[in-house]
Amino acid sequence: MRVKILLSSCVAGAVLGSGAGTLRAQSAQPSTGTATPRTTEQVYKNIQVLKGFPSDQLVPAMQFVAASLGVQCDFCHLENAFEKDDKETKQTARKMMRMMLAINKDNFDGQQKVTCYACHRGAHKPVITPIVSEEEGEFVAEEKMPHDKPNAATPPSADQILGRYLQTVGGVDAAAGVSTRIQKGRLTVGSEHFPIEVVAKMPDKRVTTVHFPGGDSITGVNGDEGWLSTPGRAVHDMSPSEVDAARMDAELFFPASLKQLFKEFRVEPQEQISGREAYVLTGTRDNLPPVQLYFDQQSGLLVRVLRFVETPLGRNPTQIDYGDYCDQGGVKTPFRWTIARPNGRFTIEIEQMQQNVPIKDDRFAKPSAPASSQEPGEM
Ligand code: HEC
Ligand code: HEC
Repeated sequence: MRVKILLSSCVAGAVLGSGAGTLRAQSAQPSTGTATPRTTEQVYKNIQVLKGFPSDQLVPAMQFVAASLGVQCDFCHLENAFEKDDKETKQTARKMMRMMLAINKDNFDGQQKVTCYACHRGAHKPVITPIVSEEEGEFVAEEKMPHDKPNAATPPSADQILGRYLQTVGGVDAAAGVSTRIQKGRLTVGSEHFPIEVVAKMPDKRVTTVHFPGGDSITGVNGDEGWLSTPGRAVHDMSPSEVDAARMDAELFFPASLKQLFKEFRVEPQEQISGREAYVLTGTRDNLPPVQLYFDQQSGLLVRVLRFVETPLGRNPTQIDYGDYCDQGGVKTPFRWTIARPNGRFTIEIEQMQQNVPIKDDRFAKPSAPASSQEPGEM
């Protein structure tokens, strides 16, 4: 049973891009596409601290809390009664939220510097005394932050790193020559495999279908619109931050558009990924969280993307690792990628690919009718 739960939240988020899909679909009202986003207290029954935020940020904030403390939702909530305050942990969490907001307001000009994770580090009781070493000369709680590694050699500029990447995948012209892509393969979660199909069209259209035994899970993004449909649930509209993430994945699918995606690139100290040196670039965009891009130093290829979704309490990370680059039609694309979040990871492997096959735009139209109806709140 546990596997199933992990799976559904993973896959929904996966294809969705932000990790909130299934849970949101369960706990929030289905979106009606109204122009002004409703606030948390308009949608939920018992909001005392997180008032005034767009309602679609509440469940992502909860996922941030759960990941920060290393717990599941039921650590603080009764099943199917999220509004109730029966558990002491929920009441403590409310105090903690107030404390955290006050610390940041009073000491960090309101910037989100101290978060639940800053103290809790994945445990419900934070460690408050330094840990005594168990081994000779080993450091505990070492954190891989991009800033702590001194680096002697001057790294290449952002333009050089991006230029080399585009050259390595086949050159800007070749990459720009790919306008559609159809990929078939499988998605692996733990030891289970499911067939998957990805259909994409330049620049920002992409539909991913995972064939589960119980029906197809479909995620689509088409410009400013994104949706998710899972068997037995109404079609769920993505929130703006989900659309942003899904859209970026769709655009990254066509390497030639990489430079247009971001406003500016900053070179970060290099890091290691699986024992190999990587150049790190931070791509910034207006009013959206930054994105980190990792390029293998030897091959020049993009090996990791780390992106974030903002929540009122902190950022939820998604890491995508790319591998098995294959050349088809003069353009190299990854045939394997692993999507990882604090609550789990899964891998997609491509077995067949076609490019530049004409695909009609209506292939990317949002399904109008609900997939089917089911009790909301079902867990
Ligand atoms: C560490 C405790 C904690 C964990 C873990 C937690 N929550 Fe919460 N949750 C809260 C608190 C506290 C509130 C009330 C926030 C407020 O008053 O502003 C809340 C509120 C909610 C609400 C609003 C209910 C209503 O109608 O008022 C929902 C829905 C919710 N949480 C879902 C989740 C989900 C889904 C998860 C698992 C991903 C989760 N929570 C994990 C503490 C927690
Ligand atoms: C400045 C550090 C700090 C921050 C930030 C912080 N906590 Fe805590 N939290 C603590 C400490 C310390 C304890 C343990 C107190 C104890 O041992 O009784 C604790 C305990 C808790 C507990 C009770 C755990 C249990 O097992 O009973 C919950 C729930 C909790 N925190 C939730 C949160 C949430 C949610 C956030 C973010 C909104 C958060 N905390 C942010 C320091 C922090």
